[in-house]
Amino acid sequence: MTQKNQDNFYDGWLYHLFVDPVLHKARKLVHGQIKPGSSLIDIGCGTGELVLFLADSCTELVGVEASHAMWAYAHQRARDLRLRNVRFIFASGEKLQDYPSDFFDYATACMVLHEMKAAQRLPVLREMQRLARTLILIDYRVPPPVNFVATICRLIERLAGSHHYHNYLSFRQSGGLLPLLETLGLAVNREILFFNRSLHLIQVSGIPKN
Ligand SMILES: C[S@@+](CC[C@H](N)C(=O)[O-])C[C@H]1O[C@@H](n2cnc3c(N)ncnc32)[C@H](O)[C@@H]1O
Repeated sequence: MTQKNQDNFYDGWLYHLFVDPVLHKARKLVHGQIKPGSSLIDIGCGTGELVLFLADSCTELVGVEASHAMWAYAHQRARDLRLRNVRFIFASGEKLQDYPSDFFDYATACMVLHEMKAAQRLPVLREMQRLARTLILIDYRVPPPVNFVATICRLIERLAGSHHYHNYLSFRQSGGLLPLLETLGLAVNREILFFNRSLHLIQVSGIPKN
């Protein structure tokens, strides 16, 4: 499978230095939703932070990245740690044919859906729905609350570049995660608000299969 590179200037060590610590709370929330001994695929895994955070509690973990710089960074971290239950693949989350349906217990996407092109969102979610019975998604709440954290988040998205900001705005204009799930006929099982209500974790379980 040939994957077109989708690097951003901040991918890799810069993201790890400045963004990963800020999102630590998100990793902890996901950890709290996962049954020990499970398998999990993380779409748009970035530097591998969530996957590595779960490495002690899951039997099999796969991180999927469309940015080569992110993928290379995550892959090197797993190699350095000599982890046997972790694998990072350079691919887009829309087509993961190497894995049969229901191969994983969980499919996660943390701060990924807002970043991709609008046309990619449903195909990625459909693929996650195919691969696992439980989805855990973290992203911006839409509409955002009126507070300082939400203003800072918007500024960060703006600074990430015009292409990135365009996708973020389209995510907001289309209503965020909930309308996407509704289109797929998926009901929210649990919602956790955090970061001063600017972000939410959404869990969808017992997924109906097509
Ligand atoms: C904001 S970062 C979040 C990274 C990580 N999930 C985290 O929580 O820190 C979004 C990541 O999603 C990746 N991404 C965007 N679209 C993707 C796709 N279709 N397939 C795989 N990765 C994708 C980007 O390359 C980027 O690394």
